[in-house]
Amino acid sequence: MSAPDLLTQAEDTLRRNHMDGYTAPSPRLYPHQWNWDSAFIAIAWAHLDWEMAVREVDTLLEGQWRDGFLPHIRYNPKVREGYQPGPDWWPDIPVRVSGQHTSGITQPPVLPTAVFLAGLAQPDERVRRSWWRRVFAPLRDLILCYPRTRTAPGSPLMAIVHPWESGTDNSPRWDFATGGGFKPSRPFRRADTQVVAAAQRPTDRDYDLYYFLVELIADHRYDFSRYLPHTPFAVYDALFNAIWYRGAVDLNRIAAELGEPAVISVEDLRAFADAYRRTLWHESSQLFRDFNLKTRAQIPVDTVVGLGAICGGLVDRTMAEAMISGYLRRCRGYRLLPSVLPDQPGFEPDRYWRGPVWVNTNWLIIRGLQELGLTTYADALSQETLALVHRNGRREFYHARSGEGLGGTDFSWTAALVVDLLRRPVS
Ligand code: SER
Repeated sequence: MSAPDLLTQAEDTLRRNHMDGYTAPSPRLYPHQWNWDSAFIAIAWAHLDWEMAVREVDTLLEGQWRDGFLPHIRYNPKVREGYQPGPDWWPDIPVRVSGQHTSGITQPPVLPTAVFLAGLAQPDERVRRSWWRRVFAPLRDLILCYPRTRTAPGSPLMAIVHPWESGTDNSPRWDFATGGGFKPSRPFRRADTQVVAAAQRPTDRDYDLYYFLVELIADHRYDFSRYLPHTPFAVYDALFNAIWYRGAVDLNRIAAELGEPAVISVEDLRAFADAYRRTLWHESSQLFRDFNLKTRAQIPVDTVVGLGAICGGLVDRTMAEAMISGYLRRCRGYRLLPSVLPDQPGFEPDRYWRGPVWVNTNWLIIRGLQELGLTTYADALSQETLALVHRNGRREFYHARSGEGLGGTDFSWTAALVVDLLRRPVS
């Protein structure tokens, strides 16, 4: 298949998945609007049909809360079946726009970066600026919300409180918590395993923890300071924090274009970057790790998330090169960047975030390497990503060894990031 065919198929997937003003991540598995999925998707729409990017961002922001928090799901009221948990698990959500229903947790804040990139794809400067002007305040509220509501004394790093907030739900990094025997008080029903083989999804034990945390967080009405003493799960996630930092830098770029003051000051960015490196760096693996706030210790599992600082711009070229070359050495014989290093306990090449290759993490690392001038690495990873999708379709994830397409079909962010890699090639 030629590059134009790949592009056409990716665009077709996005158009087919578009409904009611947003693009579903994968219509049968994830029919509502997801936070970081829509951000990745908006980047592609900006190349294909710029107004669709604007629409994607607008609908996502309709789910924003009064304090700026952007939830991980904005439910489509027309979709009644096909995804669990539904909005009934999340009572009293403080949405800005009445009538909106959302989840009570968040996801990595890719949106400010997506709006920055989508804006750059608009050739008419007047149109670009007027869009940035219109979405600037909600994005500022979003970036400022997490330092205000998700930090604990002594560190500017932000805690995630549910594995779903990491975006890497069943990563072996979270086995410390799924192994704790936590269960919700009410029964729940899984819809995901009706669509995708259970062997490729998180286990029932993982879901027991997921629903236990949903109840705990909802019972404390989403107030971190109230449930922090009671939760078994509060983590400085290396990818979430890197993406927040990158989002803050990109939003400052938008602010500068608009003649607005920086949203996060240079001093605060520096203090954040210092804390990130001090708290999360793991010298012997030459990777970043997550940090468990409850045990005050790093979580000893090496995954692709440990490279997140590359896309965040939190490391220099020398450090990034040491990180990526070390990672590639440790996964020789596997495809691209497996989500978990194959030498780690808990690695499974075909189960969701326990080993398979994902296009979004590849894309984040590719763009980070490119910006640092590590073009040879970025170009090779980009070519391999495109070849993987070309051979195996626009799937949710890919077997870490064979490259077989797995999980959800017609996966929007896979299609979207293929569009971006084709339309904005590394070299
Ligand atoms: N990724 C989660 C799921 O599988 C929720 O965002 O449902």
